[in-house]
Amino acid sequence: MTGTPIVRLENVTKTYGGIAALAQADFDLHPGEIHALVGENGAGKSTLCKLIAGVITPNEGTIRVDGQDANLATPKDASRLGISMVYQETSLVPQLTVAQNMVLGRESAFNSIRKVRNAARQVLQRLNFKVDPMQLAGSLSTAKRQMVEIARAVLNEARVIILDEPTAALTPEETDHLFDLMRSLQRSGVAMIFISHALEEALNHADRISVLRNGRLTVTGQARDFDRNRLIHHMIGEELKEFEREPAASAGPGSALPVLRVENVRMGSMVNNMSFSIFPGQITGIAGLIGSGRSEVAKVIMGHTKRNFGGGRIWLEGREVRYALPAQAVADGIAYVSEDRKLDGFFETMNATENIGLGWMAKFGRRKLIAPLQRMAQAARDWESRLSIRGIGKNQSVLYLSGGNQQKVVIAKSLVQKPKLVIFDEPTRGVDVGAIAEIRQIVRDFAESGAGVILISSYLPEILDLSDRILVAKSGTIVAEFARGEATASRILHAAIH
Ligand SMILES: Nc1ncnc2c1ncn2[C@@H]1O[C@H](COP(=O)(O)OP(=O)(O)OP(=O)(O)O)[C@@H](O)[C@H]1O
Ligand SMILES: [Mg+2]
Repeated sequence: MTGTPIVRLENVTKTYGGIAALAQADFDLHPGEIHALVGENGAGKSTLCKLIAGVITPNEGTIRVDGQDANLATPKDASRLGISMVYQETSLVPQLTVAQNMVLGRESAFNSIRKVRNAARQVLQRLNFKVDPMQLAGSLSTAKRQMVEIARAVLNEARVIILDEPTAALTPEETDHLFDLMRSLQRSGVAMIFISHALEEALNHADRISVLRNGRLTVTGQARDFDRNRLIHHMIGEELKEFEREPAASAGPGSALPVLRVENVRMGSMVNNMSFSIFPGQITGIAGLIGSGRSEVAKVIMGHTKRNFGGGRIWLEGREVRYALPAQAVADGIAYVSEDRKLDGFFETMNATENIGLGWMAKFGRRKLIAPLQRMAQAARDWESRLSIRGIGKNQSVLYLSGGNQQKVVIAKSLVQKPKLVIFDEPTRGVDVGAIAEIRQIVRDFAESGAGVILISSYLPEILDLSDRILVAKSGTIVAEFARGEATASRILHAAIH
């Protein structure tokens, strides 16, 4: 590429406790370019982005903006130079309105609430976002929160927008919309960096791709010069053993008594007379659009949403149950691997082993005065290595683990409990290609060991690959069921939409 890059990193290193999260990185970004960053969990992608956004500062090296040495000591410094970042975990203030969030930190540029609201409304309209500027940010869906963050960047007249895993929590339609929007921003000269674990997104939507591995930027090139295998090779330094599913061992429903039976369950407006059964030794996939009530019914089963429970019956191994608290469901052998990393509240100041150990204690350490600490630690370490949970240092508290490694801690914390029923809700969201294969294998192993498995996923190939049986949810109820052999993407989509 020719011309002065809008951002250039030269020999940039960022260390934590003496260990490099990013080492000697050279990177450049050109005006109007869409640049994808890929790499395994913990490779240093978010670190690179945060350095450009002024969230953290390098230990060594220089960062230039428009060819000038830039002092990016704070996000404000970056924002003044036209650089905005949309974070992996959203940064909006839930108690403020959309409009207030959009001008946060720059309120002085607007001298009345009306001006703030109008400016926000104009940008939202220009971007074709259907978001009310007066709504509280806390009440927005993930996709809408992200839209607001992008709108904030546009209102700031950003020339560089950094998106950290923007598509991880979006539906396929929302993802298409986001890439359309990125292309239109590109036409107006905005440069963008985006991180994604979906390698196809990098291959299809970026102009250039940079690959990170163990804190090193290993290669940068034109997207058209890469393919999936080449990217993986640069990411992990070897070929990936992709997960291959063996033919279903077990027969369809009716071959055994259900582990779980749900009948006419209702919850608020989200779950409407949902009924289904889950059988041991099988993976039952639940497909459906966002808002179809899949995660909500899981939360009802777990006792997460006691207050909105609207009726219906639930049986676990033939015994009727109604949990008032998730801890009771856990004690009975149900595990919920939630889509939301933060929901299950791990202890941020503890390390991965300790957090997984707490999961073990919640199940096996109950009512015992002296905890079998050694068995707890052993079980925790086993799961840590099975999922290759890694930080750069030893004993890193989970707060400082990369996003994908935090997600793996959430998964391990549930699975260490040896549940008889596991509900996986978007289990591979945000984790890298290597870990996806491991997690799929683990989902499979659980079913093979005789547990009942529910797999909720918005990624149809994942549902099709793994499930022995597929249910389709729509508007809070199950509208179709397919055996493994009958299911195709178009049949499922047809049922989910019509
Ligand atoms: N504040 C911090 N203190 C200590 N270590 C940190 C801190 N922030 C990041 N790290 C470590 O630096 C490494 C790189 O993290 P980074 O968040 O950049 O990874 P990533 O490539 O974005 O991964 P993911 O795909 O999982 O989001 C990780 O091992 C992480 O644990
Ligand atoms: Mg990250």
